[in-house]
Amino acid sequence: MYQIPKGLYDILPYGADEEWKLSYYWQFLEGVIKELTGEYAYKELRTPIFEKAEVFIRSSGETSDIVKKEMYTFKDKADRLMSLRPEGTASLLRAFVENNIQSLPPPYKFYYIGPMFRYDRPQAGRYRQHHQFGIEAIGNSSYLQDVEAIDLLMELYRRLGLKNLTLNINSVGDLETRKDYKKALQDFLKPNFDELSKESQDRFTKNPLRILDSKEEEDKKFLQNAPSILDFLTPDAKNHFEAVCFSLKELNIPYLINDKLVRGLDYYNHTVFEVVSGKIGAQNSLGGGGRYDGLVKDFGGPDLSAFGFGTGMERIIQTMIEQQIKVSDTSNPFVYFIPLDEASEKLCFKLTLELRHSKIPVENSLSVRKLPKSLQTANNLKVKYVAIIGEDELKTNTILLKDMEKREQTSLPLDSSLEFIKNLYEKSRQKNV
Ligand code: HAM
Repeated sequence: MYQIPKGLYDILPYGADEEWKLSYYWQFLEGVIKELTGEYAYKELRTPIFEKAEVFIRSSGETSDIVKKEMYTFKDKADRLMSLRPEGTASLLRAFVENNIQSLPPPYKFYYIGPMFRYDRPQAGRYRQHHQFGIEAIGNSSYLQDVEAIDLLMELYRRLGLKNLTLNINSVGDLETRKDYKKALQDFLKPNFDELSKESQDRFTKNPLRILDSKEEEDKKFLQNAPSILDFLTPDAKNHFEAVCFSLKELNIPYLINDKLVRGLDYYNHTVFEVVSGKIGAQNSLGGGGRYDGLVKDFGGPDLSAFGFGTGMERIIQTMIEQQIKVSDTSNPFVYFIPLDEASEKLCFKLTLELRHSKIPVENSLSVRKLPKSLQTANNLKVKYVAIIGEDELKTNTILLKDMEKREQTSLPLDSSLEFIKNLYEKSRQKNV
């Protein structure tokens, strides 16, 4: 028997070992995302699952965990270095610039849903293939762009019914801010360099800001009193950040300023944010993102500012289940056709197809089986009606329609039976709206 590689999982219609792997949760989530992105005027942009490795290396940062440890990189047959995408922003910008979208009129507001790949130690909430819903809004430097994106994400979580989430927000300022702050942080940590974790020592010269992110106890005790990046914001950076915070407050979107939030990718400036849920253990980041002015230019495009986020779909569904938010499988057929003998098989099949062509979900046993077995299948499929045709029905040109809930049955004239079923279906749909 073959086994799925470590850190991966299947999404199944039923029979999954954990509820979050059931496909109707995913379809439900994707439905809400499509509705919401439409309302906020974001359009779908799909990119391939792998790209030239350099697309990710330069943008994410050579010292980022993603590039250093987590990329699935391989050589193709022509010896070119390729990577499975670890995130969506870089691929989207590559596509934006390569397709010369900036020559078309704005707005440039895009969303994507799809798998991402990170080679990391698998654990609950962390997989080697995970799925993200993300948005990227290119070309607007207004603080309101930051707020719009954050509001979209919080509205998604709200619509799904998620509770007890915390929105953490920070500013990593502009280049000048980070230059001054890096120096201040290094000066602060230098006397205790030998006591820092190995990883933080590595980051000390290459990427000191990432030390703020450390989960190691030996680092945390020093970081408590570290200088705050917010004290190093240039006047422009300060104005931008204050405008975002003020606007969130006005809109009643609760947030927590966390001046240690830097995020794991190097392309951010100004606003960065992350939404965490109290419950999903160590992997508690549900979604995050920020502003990345300058990255479009790095990709060879014009100097456009940009803002975006990504949110993990596994973690969203897991949080829904933890918070007992139930989704039901609405993909059940409406009628199940049962032929009682071989002579009825063809008619059952013909009626099944005719109903399906009228957009009514119908299932058919295809071949004759014992009636109790067929009824058991109908029960498993949770159909509303069973349509039975046997010798008697063929003789009298009728079909027997059984209401599975009320346990009543009616004999219908064959020539009006399809109309009758269509009406029942319409009525049941109206009831469910
Ligand atoms: P990220 O924070 O690396 O950001 O990932 C976004 C979200 O993807 C995380 O908050 C988490 O929910 C989920 N996620 C990440 N890694 C895993 C994993 N191994 N298993 C399960 N879920 C995971 C980005 O990727 C940026 N591209 C976001 C962005 C877009 N920034 C600007 N635009």
